[in-house]
Parts: sequence; structure tokens; C-alpha cells
Amino acid sequence: MKRTLGTCYYPEHWPREIWKDDARRMVELGLTWVRIGEFSWGQLEPAPGEYQFDWLDDAIEVLGDAGLRVVLGTPTATPPRWLIDRHPDMLAGDVEGRPRKFGSRRHYCFSHEGYKTECARIVTAMAERYGANPHVAAWQTDNEYGCHDTTISYSNAARHAFQDWLRARYRGDGNDGDISALNKAWGNIFWSMDYDDFDQIDLPNLTVTEPNPAHSLAFRRFSSDQVVAFNRLQVDILRAHTDAPIAHNYMGRITDFDHFAVGSDLDIASWDSYPLGFLEDRVGADDAWQRRFSRQGDPDFQAFHHDLYRAVGRGRWWVMEQQPGPVNWAPYNPAPLLGTVRLWSWEAFAHGAEAVCYFRWRQAPFAQEQMHAGLLRPDSVEAPGFEEARRVATEIADAPEVEQGRARVAMIFDYDADAAWQVQPHGQGLSYFGLVFDWYKAMRGLGLSLDILPASNRDFSGYDLIAAPGLMHMSDGLKAALAATEAQVLLGPRSAARDEDMSIPVPLPPDIAGLDVIVSRVESLRPDMPVALESGGNLHLYREVLEGSAEVLERSVDGLAVVMGTGRLCYIGAWPDQDALRRIIGQECEIAKIATLDLPDGVRVRDCGTERFWFNYNSEAVSVDGLTLDAAGVCRQTISAPSSSD
Ligand code: GAL
Repeated sequence: MKRTLGTCYYPEHWPREIWKDDARRMVELGLTWVRIGEFSWGQLEPAPGEYQFDWLDDAIEVLGDAGLRVVLGTPTATPPRWLIDRHPDMLAGDVEGRPRKFGSRRHYCFSHEGYKTECARIVTAMAERYGANPHVAAWQTDNEYGCHDTTISYSNAARHAFQDWLRARYRGDGNDGDISALNKAWGNIFWSMDYDDFDQIDLPNLTVTEPNPAHSLAFRRFSSDQVVAFNRLQVDILRAHTDAPIAHNYMGRITDFDHFAVGSDLDIASWDSYPLGFLEDRVGADDAWQRRFSRQGDPDFQAFHHDLYRAVGRGRWWVMEQQPGPVNWAPYNPAPLLGTVRLWSWEAFAHGAEAVCYFRWRQAPFAQEQMHAGLLRPDSVEAPGFEEARRVATEIADAPEVEQGRARVAMIFDYDADAAWQVQPHGQGLSYFGLVFDWYKAMRGLGLSLDILPASNRDFSGYDLIAAPGLMHMSDGLKAALAATEAQVLLGPRSAARDEDMSIPVPLPPDIAGLDVIVSRVESLRPDMPVALESGGNLHLYREVLEGSAEVLERSVDGLAVVMGTGRLCYIGAWPDQDALRRIIGQECEIAKIATLDLPDGVRVRDCGTERFWFNYNSEAVSVDGLTLDAAGVCRQTISAPSSSD
């Protein structure tokens, strides 16, 4: 596979006279791709029905003639002002039920039929005009679904659509919506919450105390389905007019819709990687860690998303937006350490990215993102990121083409589990993402390269270790597949802890064939209440009391079983800290005959095809395994055999 670079460009922000020169400089820099158009509805249709495509025709021609391949975005993340006048109720509602206002972006509700019709209209117009344009080599739908907390909308449109969704989900014998089926499944007998009709069901906001978790989970699932349907509407239109691949650009740590479901309608998954913004804004690290990696980003956060989106894209994935300098939106916005833009780019390639596109070409001197760096300064002089991009361009031109090998280790990631944890975290700050990311970190510290799999996966062949923490609801099919695989299976806390409608199942969880473990009770712990384990490290935040005849593999110093297992199935009934996780996962690797490393903080490896990459996220040089890695250094080694076990 050929590795390529690109950038995000807004021709509508700049005088036409400079487009040609911009295009020439992009090509000279070694870029292949230029993404345009995704916020330009106001310029494409300044008044209802008055299309103005000439400028976009010209921009595509100028860029294409220069040798660039265009990624064309549909502009539905930025409905223009006149559209709000036409459909005042298309705005999403916040949790207080107030409309979210015009004046930035993503100001729409996924459930509004009128807005969806308008989207279908503009997307059709674009698809008809550019579907066969030879310069348009890929499409992007919308922009960052869910960003700015926009998946969930408490609007009237959402309420009506939710009622219809429930009607279709809870059916009686005659296949019509059956309200008693819903009442039973949700346990509405509790607190006299029974409904007589689907039309009485409101959205789960503004209740006096917490709403029924079954109600909240249903609303989250519905909201996710609305994103899938919204995206599919656009994809169906585009496919009728183009053979070019279609992508969407997802974000970091946005988990409130099922990316696997959206991704199954697309050809490429892409995501927007802002390592320094994320470290400040969403990694969840302590102050010392944030300080230490403030100019480099968290050493695992990008890699996790690279692996996740490789799975969402079924192997085909890009970084659609790569941070090239300081961003504008995190609590603090430092400049990257010299070399890190290159490191981030190479790390994406090491995880199999087909393309890395820098956001943005030129810093905008106006509006919300004035303080966001580009490859060029507002005066068109090269910004520091430019030189790093140039270096990457030279390096990828010289690098061998490699295919990704299949990893030996896989971890399951499930958006539905994330929703269930959000609804019922059981302790302040406990999240599914946090748990999975802790496991991922521990595995990366052991030098493992891994694949991420959706919970719908049933084929575990080729893997030697499967990690599955926190899957709150597990289908019978998944349980059976895990019980039947030849791999070691490491299950984590809260596995199968709820049935499909968020009730505690009986027999008690996890109820997996061949593993005689029962979670008899659970507790969450204050962060200052760690419990030491007999073999080292602590459990913290959350623990379970385990019963059953499976072998006890780890105990806490207070004498309770923490890890139990039978044969290849192993269950961790707690949230272990990094020391304990590394040790426990390391032991599983030993059983599965998977070689591990003991990497220092900030040093990470990734095996890919016949290459091993080393990355040093530290701000000073580090010696490890006979290598010296510079600060923000990248090292590529040829390895004799692919990492794949098959
Ligand atoms: C992304 C977004 C871009 C831009 C960028 C700034 O979330 O897709 O349009 O706003 O952030 O970092």
C-alpha cells in the first residue's frame, strides 16, 4: 500500500488569484490529497434554491489540474441562516430542552425530517455535478458527527422519532407496537412508571431524579441509529452518482453513536487527530502526565484511535485532519515539540493509514479558528509544521510499501457498552472508554500490537489473545464464540452484567459456558481507596465479589478473589491499576506464547507487516533495547517475519 499525504483547504476563504499558487505549493510539498467543501453550504446556495457552483467548479479544476486529488465534503454540518428561518425547529435541543442556536456549526437535529430533505437536496445537487468529475477522487459525508456534543438532541423532532423507534422495537404478537412489552422490558412497574401508549413517552431529560436506565439506554441507542440513518441517506445519494470511495471523519473519544454501524455504509473510516488538544481535553490523565507530554500528546491515545478506526473502516482508514501546530480549542494550546508532527504522521502510517492530511493548509485570520495553526501562516509563509510535513513526504517516497499483518492480540470495543456505562457508571468518573483505554495502555506498555474488533465479530481465528473488558451486555452469540475460540480470552469487569434492556440477568453474570464464575455483588470505590493485590499493584475504582468453582488466579490482600479462570477463559472482577494490569495481561501473553517487552513510559512500538516502528513520545532521548531514540524520535526496523500468526 502506498502512503500519501494531504491537507484541508478552504478555497472560499481566499482570493481566487492565490488558488493556483496554493495548489502548486501543495504539490511541491509532496501532497496527494486536498479536502474541500465541507462547510461551504452558504456559498453553494446563498439563498434558497439559488445554487452557485461556479467557484467550486473552478477550485476543483485548479486543484485537479495541478495534480491533486480532491476529497469533496458534503456541507451538511453548516446549514446556512436562511435554512433555520425555513425550519426553525430543526435546531437540536440541549439537555434543558432549549434550542441550540445558529452562529457556529453542527446546529441541527438528526431527527428533523425537513432538515434531512434539505440535506438530500444539496447532496443530490453536488453528486449530480461532481459525481463523475475525474478530479474528485473521494467524498466525505458531513463533518465529525457527534462533535460538540451533538449526537443527542432533546428536541420535539427527536421525541416523535423516538416514540416511533420504540413502537418498532417493542412489538406484540400482531407485530404492532405493544406498550406492555415495553413496560415489562423496562421494569416500569417500579415507581408506577407504566405507560398506556407510546405517544406518552417523553425524552429522558428533566426528570426529578434519574430516569429509568432502560429508558436512557433506549434513547442513546435511538440517537445512534439516527446518525446511522442520516449518514446512509447521503451515502445512497452519492453512490448513485459516483464510484469514488466515501469516507466520514470521526473524532477522538466520541463514543455516543455506533461508528461500526456508520462505517459499514462507508468505504473508508477517517478521523481527526489533535494529540495536544486531546491530552488537555479528553485523555483524562493527571496533571503530571499532562505536563510531561504537553508538547507531544498522550503516547497511546492516537494509537488507540488508529486501531479503532482501522476496524471501523474494515482495514481502510485515513487521518483526515492532523494537528500541524497549536490548536485553539483546548484549555491550554501549546506548540508541538519539534519533530512531533512527523512522529504523529508516521505513527498513523505504522497503524496502516492510507493517508494523513494536515488541518489546515493556511491559518485563517478571521472567525473562530484564528488561533489554530496551519501549514502556512496567515501571510502564506511556511509555519513550523510545513517543514515536518516536507520531511514526511520525502520519507514516505523512499519507504517500502508494506501491508498490515494481522495482530495476534485483539480487543473488543463496543459502542453499546459505552452507552450502558454512561447510563449507569456506578461511580463518579467511571467510564467504559476509560476502562478500555487503561487495558490498551497496559498492552502497549508490553509492546503488543493489537487489532480492535466490534462486538458483532464471531471469527476469532488467527488471534491468540482476546481482551474483552466491560461489555455490559453480551449477546448469546458473542458468549458462545468466545467460549469456543482457541485463543486465551481475558474478560473484564461488568461483562454481561445487564440484559438487553438494562436489567440484571439471572443466572447472575457473566454466565459464560465453561467459566464457573458468578459476580455476586459489586462496589465502586473512591479514587483514594485502592486495594492492594497479593502479587503486586492495586485494584481501584470498582470491584466485584466473585464466587464459583473456577481457579482463583489473583487475590487482593483482604483475601477476596480478583481474577478467576478455567482453561482459556479468564475473568478480572475489578479495575486494576497499570502495574497490576500489565502483570495480569503479561501472564496471559506468556500462556499464549506471545513475546512481550517492558517499555518505559512514552516509548511505544508498533509491528506492521515486515516493519517494526519505535516511537519516543518523551522530550528527551531514550535508550531501549539497544536503540537510542531521539526526543520525538521515530525508528523503523525491518523484521523478518510478519507479526501475523497465520
Ligand atoms: C476539527 C474540525 C475542523 C476544525 C478542527 C480544529 O474538529 O473537523 O473543522 O474545526 O477541528 O482543530
